[in-house]
Amino acid sequence: TGPKPLAGRTAIVTSGPTHEPIDPVRYIANRSSGRQGHAIAAALAKLGADVTLVSGPVAIPDPAGVATLHVERAEEMRDAVISRLPTDIAVMVAAVADWRVAASAGQKIKKRPGEAPAPLQLTENPDILKTVGHHEKRPAIVVGFAAETQDIERNGRTKLKKKGADLIVANDVSPETGIMGGTRNRVKLISTTGVEEWPELDKDAVAERLANWIAERLNQGAVR
Ligand code: C5P
Repeated sequence: TGPKPLAGRTAIVTSGPTHEPIDPVRYIANRSSGRQGHAIAAALAKLGADVTLVSGPVAIPDPAGVATLHVERAEEMRDAVISRLPTDIAVMVAAVADWRVAASAGQKIKKRPGEAPAPLQLTENPDILKTVGHHEKRPAIVVGFAAETQDIERNGRTKLKKKGADLIVANDVSPETGIMGGTRNRVKLISTTGVEEWPELDKDAVAERLANWIAERLNQGAVR
């Protein structure tokens, strides 16, 4: 149990990668374990929120106490998220593929010896966070993530504006940090009210602190 500052509130969370089909057996994707997004969904539920998690393909279990929807592609993820608005809270953690194959093949593309492989025509995927951040049914609190390898603060501020978010949780994913796919995370919170730097923590601890940050912001009725 514990305090339930999010009782009566609704939240939508995205997590994991998206898979963009090339043909029935091949796909394009970003690396993402889903650990951080799933932990955030669980942490919001623990504070009493009614949480829907929209998850791309991951190898981890659905979090307890959270309604989980499984999707593959960015467009499916976008549709699942938008159809659930309005919510009080949106936390977009998924590593959505920036591009999809313009015309994915209905049959497996055959490899022909001696022939050059067919080039892939890519087209841009919808930006789910940006859509939510500018939506007429925009949640009261919109949170995005930013995986950066340099200029974390500057890029975070730019992203905050562009996406229409209240908060960007930025982390350094340079290979030497070991954060990608790991169990720990080190983040900077870039919000409309300033920058906060958190120490390296377990992804579960980051999720708990973030859920508390959201509860405080929501309950103080802060407006943008
Ligand atoms: O622009 P960039 O991909 O760096 O932004 C990252 C943030 O935007 C994350 O919160 C991610 O979940 C979200 N995003 C999204 N849809 C996309 C691309 C990113 O929701 N197509």
